[in-house]
Amino acid sequence: MTKVQLSPDTTLFPVPVVLITCGVGNEANLFTVNRISSCNAEPPMIAISVRPSRVSHDLIEELGEFVVNIPRPDMELICDYVGTTTARKTDKWAETGLTRLPATAVQPPLIAQCPVNIECQVRYNITLPSHCLFVAEVVALNADESVLNERQEVDFALAQGMSYWSGVVRERPVDNFRPDKLLRKVQAWSSYA
Ligand SMILES: Cc1cc2nc3c(=O)[nH]c(=O)nc-3n(C[C@H](O)[C@H](O)[C@H](O)COP(=O)(O)O)c2cc1C
Repeated sequence: MTKVQLSPDTTLFPVPVVLITCGVGNEANLFTVNRISSCNAEPPMIAISVRPSRVSHDLIEELGEFVVNIPRPDMELICDYVGTTTARKTDKWAETGLTRLPATAVQPPLIAQCPVNIECQVRYNITLPSHCLFVAEVVALNADESVLNERQEVDFALAQGMSYWSGVVRERPVDNFRPDKLLRKVQAWSSYA
């Protein structure tokens, strides 16, 4: 089989796409992340990579807490929208219609519409060339009853592969991304969600 040489990239599959909530009260923000990994078992730990230019970076660094919210497949465009708009210019909660629920062990809110919400406290903060790696302990795990199997485990098949929706390496928004068109679709989604 002939191999084609591509430019170096983090070409892993599958690529999870999640919504991260961070900050508290009126400052609470949400943004999209795909640089995320399970990285320790006892205690359970998750690592996310965040560019220092993000509003969310400073909120996570200051509070030392965040929530990983796993979206449903029909939330793909929402993920693109909150991953291409910044809290500096957009009230992403108002635009998307996503709503907040109080977390149990951390201060940032959960996203009500996401069936799984993983509450995390940062234990290590590692500066990489382009990103900051936040390595965090999972301190609470919330799941909708609809995605639990008979052993009370999260079964992703019950939500039709909600986190691994994309069939290609998903580093960027979908093709032909236009914020105005996307916002209309996001608002249409919000009206029936
Ligand atoms: C599919 C997708 C994946 C993304 N993954 C990351 C990521 O892993 N780390 C990161 O820092 N930004 C990532 N982004 C970009 C941020 O979500 C984006 O810059 C966002 O506007 C930051 O919002 P904020 O300035 O309100 O914090 C991703 C965006 C998309 C659409």
